[in-house]
Amino acid sequence: MSKKAASIIAGQIRSKPSSVLGLATGSTPLGTYKELIKMHRKEGLDFSRVTTFNLDEYYGLGPDHPQSYHRFMEENFFSKINAKKRRVHIPDGLTKNVGAFCLRYEEMIKQSGGVDIQLLGIGRDGHLGFNEPGSSLGSRTRVKTLTEETVRDNARFFSGQEKVPKLAITMGVGTILDAKKLLLIASGQVKAEAVRDSVEGPVTSSVTASALQLHPHVTCVLDEPASRLLAQKYYYMYVEKVAETIEAEARI
Ligand code: GLP
Repeated sequence: MSKKAASIIAGQIRSKPSSVLGLATGSTPLGTYKELIKMHRKEGLDFSRVTTFNLDEYYGLGPDHPQSYHRFMEENFFSKINAKKRRVHIPDGLTKNVGAFCLRYEEMIKQSGGVDIQLLGIGRDGHLGFNEPGSSLGSRTRVKTLTEETVRDNARFFSGQEKVPKLAITMGVGTILDAKKLLLIASGQVKAEAVRDSVEGPVTSSVTASALQLHPHVTCVLDEPASRLLAQKYYYMYVEKVAETIEAEARI
């Protein structure tokens, strides 16, 4: 899953070295970052002209807080590639004026030319970024209150559930849908229901990842357990095979 996701992102960077990447945190993208780092070291994958925007950050955590998404990205990705600091953007969890900051974040994304490819994980309740159930499908970058389930799920990274911030700054669903391409990754049976509801369920703000169905260019990279509940799973695999055959024939 990670290799496939990394190869899609690397393909984007190779075809447009000044690509704008939307990045995600959580345990799922870790493997993708590792693969991209490997490609940087072994194949010279060049991030020097790339611009990045992260989906979200805990509200109230500064960049040096060990559980902040700033720190996560620095430790797991940015310190190991050659991206330029001035082109790396992550929401500021310590902003004094959150409304103005969120508007500025949206503006910066627009000024960059828009996100070329947005990497996404998925929460167990089907959230993207921190767009918890009930988030408007047209929402923009703003502060969201985390559900108790999300707080519990993320407690494993903190020294106790009470230490997990209750609020986060997150790109909105509308912000995410503005990206030119979306790349959702999910692994493990724990994500199977969220994946099924997002890919095959009705489009609803109760499962914000179901908004992916409204986007013209989405790729879902799933491992076997995460795809287990998809009713059309074998059709999707067949579609991929047909596409590969056509590509192979075109190369002959
Ligand atoms: C958090 C992040 C999401 C991520 C989710 C799942 O809520 N804000 O972007 O998709 O966690 O994380 P994991 O990949 O660890 O299951």
